[in-house]
Amino acid sequence: MALTNKEKTLIEDNLNAEYLCIRKYEQYAALASDPQIKQVFTDLANKEREHANTLTGMLQGSNITPENIFSSYTTPQGDQSSMQQNLGLTDAQLLNDALSTEKHVSSSYNTAVLESVDANIRKQLQHIQQEEQQHAETLFNTMQSHGWYKVQ
Ligand SMILES: [Fe+2]
Ligand SMILES: [Fe+2]
Repeated sequence: MALTNKEKTLIEDNLNAEYLCIRKYEQYAALASDPQIKQVFTDLANKEREHANTLTGMLQGSNITPENIFSSYTTPQGDQSSMQQNLGLTDAQLLNDALSTEKHVSSSYNTAVLESVDANIRKQLQHIQQEEQQHAETLFNTMQSHGWYKVQ
């Protein structure tokens, strides 16, 4: 089924966000100091790649060839945590930034869900949105377990 212009634009926007998430999480996996936090970012990067593949499939199913300047890049190699210290970054900051990214991405999927005409497209977008909320939960739990996110 052909996508409406609105569906196409919103899927492309979300695909752009997914590519940025993949980069961010791979970079953060390299930069983080704590091995457990590195793993959280690596897992998230892999999940965002699945989202990017799903969105690419939606576009290709409507004969749209996605073009995005962020689609290909070279993954950072090895442990870069010494660079984290040089830049004055902390694991808490990386997690907090990632959490804020997930909040943004989740609300962007919310818009895409609400603007979907095709039931199958809507279902797939809802599924991704739910996973973005799980990513936020994982990041929140990681912060809280380190005492970096205090709830009243
Ligand atoms: Fe995602
Ligand atoms: Fe995510």
